[in-house]
Amino acid sequence: MRQSSLVVVANRLPVDDNSAFDGAFEWRRSPGGLAGALHAILEQTPATWVGWSGHEGPAPDLPDIGSLRMCPIALSADDLAGYYEGFANSTLWPLYHDAVEQAVFDRGWWETYREVNRRFAEAAAEAVEPGGTVWVQDYHLQLVPQMIRERRPDVLIGFFLHVPFPPPELFMQLPRRIELLRGMLGADLVGFQRPQAAHNIAQLTAKLLGAEVTGDDQISFEGRTIRTGAFPMSIDVAEMQALAARRDVRTRAAQLRSDLGRPRRVLLSVDRLDYIKGIEQRLTAYSELLRDGRVKVRDTVMVQVAVPSRERVEKYRRLRDRIESEVGRINGEYGRVGEPAVHYLIQPFDRAELAALYQTADIMVVTPLRDGMNLVAKEYVAARADATGALVLSEFAGAADEFTDAFQVNPHDVDGLKERLLQAMEADPADLERRMTAMRDHLTGHDIVQWARSYLTTLDSTGRVAARIPG
Ligand code: ADP
Ligand code: F6P
Repeated sequence: MRQSSLVVVANRLPVDDNSAFDGAFEWRRSPGGLAGALHAILEQTPATWVGWSGHEGPAPDLPDIGSLRMCPIALSADDLAGYYEGFANSTLWPLYHDAVEQAVFDRGWWETYREVNRRFAEAAAEAVEPGGTVWVQDYHLQLVPQMIRERRPDVLIGFFLHVPFPPPELFMQLPRRIELLRGMLGADLVGFQRPQAAHNIAQLTAKLLGAEVTGDDQISFEGRTIRTGAFPMSIDVAEMQALAARRDVRTRAAQLRSDLGRPRRVLLSVDRLDYIKGIEQRLTAYSELLRDGRVKVRDTVMVQVAVPSRERVEKYRRLRDRIESEVGRINGEYGRVGEPAVHYLIQPFDRAELAALYQTADIMVVTPLRDGMNLVAKEYVAARADATGALVLSEFAGAADEFTDAFQVNPHDVDGLKERLLQAMEADPADLERRMTAMRDHLTGHDIVQWARSYLTTLDSTGRVAARIPG
C-alpha cells in the first residue's frame, strides 16, 4: 500500500459516495462542518483521508480527489448501531453538549465503539509513512490516538475535538471515562475549540489518572508529555467571499428577496436538525413575537433551513416531528394565503445557493444551546461583503469567543432571546456596520488554512507538517 506523510482520520470521508457505486463518481460534500471545512484545505495536499463513506456495508472503491487519497472504512449495520448511532451519538454527543438531552449508557455499545476505533487505527497505521503524521478528528474516534501509538510509535499523532469537551461533573458520569481519557492522551497534541475544554481535560487527567499538569497546556503521563490547547476552527473565507461576489449569486439573492414578498426584514437560520441547535427555543421566541404583535408577517419573514441528520436515532426523529408540527402551527396561526410566517426548507443546498441565502438575510439567527464552533455563523459574516446585516449568536457556540461584536444571547432565556432579536432588527445601520466590520476583520486573519497551520505547527514545531498545507 502507498503510504502518505500526512494521514487524516475522521468518522466521515469528505465525500458522500452515493454516485460512486455505478462508477459515475461525483464530488459531493459530506454533511456537517468538519468534513466540509477540512476538505477545503486537504484537496490540494498530498495526504490520505481514512473515514466512512456514509453508507452501510462494504467499503466502496473511491478514486483520489486531487492529491488526497481516500481510504474508506467499511461499517456494517451492527457497527453503525453500536458505534455511530449508539456510543458516539447517543452517549457522547448529548453528554458533551451539556446533557441538553439525556445521555444513554448502553453497555453493549462500548465493545462496538472500541472495535470500530481499532479498525480506523489499523488503517491509519498502515497508511502513514515512517516518521509521518496522523491527525485524528473528533469524538467518534477518541480511542484511536492511543491505538495508533501502540502500532506506530515512530509517528506524530494529533487529536482535535470539534465538539465541546465537558466539565468534570459531566464527564465523570461516563462509565468508560478512564479508557476515553487514555485514548486521547495517546496523541502528542490534543486540540479543542475553546480554552475551557483544555482546562477541563487538565483537571480530569489529574483527578482520574494522577497525571501531572503544568499550566493548562501540558500533561505529563506515563513518561510522555502531551500538549493541549485551543485552536478555534474556521472556514474557507476566500471561497465564501468569492461566491458572495459572483454576479449570479447576487442576482439570486435579489430573486430570493422578491420571492419572499420583498419584506422589510429577513431572518435566517441554517442548521443541521439537531437538538443542540436550539431550533425549538428559537421558534418559540419568534412565535411569541408574532403573538404579541411585536413582529408582523409581511413586514418580516423567517427562513429556517434545516438538514435532516442522524435520523436512525429516535431523539432526532422526534425532534424533527416536533419542529415540523410547530412550524405548521405558527404558519396556521400567523401566516396568510401566500405569506407564511416561517419558510421551512429541509433541503441540501449548493454553496452558491447558501451564499445567496446569507446575502438575503438581514438578521442571521444562530442560537444553539451548545455548539463546538458553528461554522454557519462564520459563513454568514464572510458573505456580508458590504458589512451590512446582524448576527444574533448564542454565547454557548464556540464562535462567541471570536465574535464578541455579535448580538450575543442566552438561548435558554426565551424572553432574552426575544429582546435580542428585536434589538438586532431595530439596530442603527452604523452600529451594524461597526459590528460586522469588526467580525469580518477578525475572520480575515483566522481562516481554515490558518487554523490547520496553527494546529500543525504546534504539533510539529519544525513547521514541516504545516508546510504541506497550501494557501
Ligand atoms: P455542524 O458541524 O454541527 O453540522 P456547523 O455550523 O459547524 O454545524 O457546520 C454546518 C455546515 O453545513 C456548514 O458548512 C453549512 O454551510 C453546511 N450546511 C448547513 N445546512 C446546509 C444545507 N441545507 N445544505 C448544504 N449545506 C448546509
Ligand atoms: O461537529 C460534529 C459533527 O459530528 C461533525 O463530525 C460533523 O461535521 C457533523 O457533526 C455532522 O454529523 P454527522 O457526521 O453525524 O452527520
